Amino acid sequence: MIRDLRSYFAFLEQQGDLDRVTSPVGLLEIPTGMAEQEKKGKAVIFENIKGYEYPVCNNIFGKREFLAGLFQCSREEVAREFKKRSENGIEPVIVESGPVQEVVFTGDEVDIEKFPFVIHCAKDAGRFITAGMVIARDPETGIRNCSINRMQLKGPRKTGLRMSPTQDLEAYYRKAVARNLPLEIAAVVGNHPFDLLAAASGPPRDVDELAIAGGLRQEPVELVRCRTIDLEVPARAELVIEGYINPGELEEEGPFGDFMEFYVPAMKNHVFHINAITMRKKPIIQVIKAGSIDDTTLLSTPREAQLYKVLKDNNVNLNAINMSVGKNYLTCVISIEKQIENEAKNILLAAFGSFKFLKNCIVVDHDVDVFDPADVWWALSTRLRADTGVMVIPNT
Ligand SMILES: Cc1cc2nc3c(=O)[nH]c(=O)nc-3n(C[C@H](O)[C@H](O)[C@H](O)COP(=O)(O)O)c2cc1C
Repeated sequence: MIRDLRSYFAFLEQQGDLDRVTSPVGLLEIPTGMAEQEKKGKAVIFENIKGYEYPVCNNIFGKREFLAGLFQCSREEVAREFKKRSENGIEPVIVESGPVQEVVFTGDEVDIEKFPFVIHCAKDAGRFITAGMVIARDPETGIRNCSINRMQLKGPRKTGLRMSPTQDLEAYYRKAVARNLPLEIAAVVGNHPFDLLAAASGPPRDVDELAIAGGLRQEPVELVRCRTIDLEVPARAELVIEGYINPGELEEEGPFGDFMEFYVPAMKNHVFHINAITMRKKPIIQVIKAGSIDDTTLLSTPREAQLYKVLKDNNVNLNAINMSVGKNYLTCVISIEKQIENEAKNILLAAFGSFKFLKNCIVVDHDVDVFDPADVWWALSTRLRADTGVMVIPNT
């Protein structure tokens, strides 16, 4: 049973899918090491980082097979499993204690800079926390939300925090501003992979992502109460940063190399003040590069499940969906057993209707492997007549 990030690593290690780098590595060398691991398709733990006490991990979704292993199904069935399990959410439970509070730093003991968060791109403004699941509570309804947000380190007890205007977290923040109250948040690093997938899934605003995580795990997520704020966090995570965002406080944040492989410029973003850090004795610090396979998997897998539902509800004979074929989540390939002529037209429109950021969608026959870009190109080369087979939707 995979109960946390560590047992997930044990599972990967058993099948030869985890490398441990024990030789000393400088923090600036980590991004190159991460890129190499992505090519190898293996997860990695850098165990010995010069000048830092704690290890760094990356590439936890290094191959599609890792997801299949997590869900105990085939690559093709991941979307179905995600949909089924996330529709059957399981509410989290609160427990008295957990490993994530083995060590507690408060007040002046807090120093987020001693953790090995990395500079991912040469022109990034600094070191960023990129795999942090941010937990907050709606100031009006009390409903919990989880999302992933980048946080630029800005001092021992302070980071920047980027939230997009359409995010639930931003909606919560606006409600806090209306009440002139700080918004308490907890940023959780070193999560169970299912918790991170749930946080990236973007369900309706009144759905608690930790219940989705419970559904994905098929058991309730155990939570412990934070030490300094009124929130709960997964008991078996690696590290928790407790703090708050002040209403109206904005500061320059960025630039940051983002998932489409260009820099988002410096802009005014929120400020996260840190009250406390709680952690395991030797926390494993997860880092994610924007646009990497970890990032793409987190963003595309929940959207594949969403599209799976729409297509199945319309009786499409669906074989498989891959929304990470373009090394981001903007292009989707769907394989089907065609039932009627022109069926692809409806499938394409359903895909664009179900996901607002989709830019390209390709429908192929079931004999094409949607997980192999070369096979998709083969289908485009041999089976597509562009004058009749391409549909253009404006402003995608
Ligand atoms: C690695 C990673 C980093 C992300 N960073 C940010 C970010 O800095 N700001 C943001 O608004 N969304 C970011 N996202 C996207 C949101 O986490 C995602 O859209 C989430 O579903 C939003 O949650 P919500 O349902 O609470 O709105 C990131 C996603 C991933 C996978």
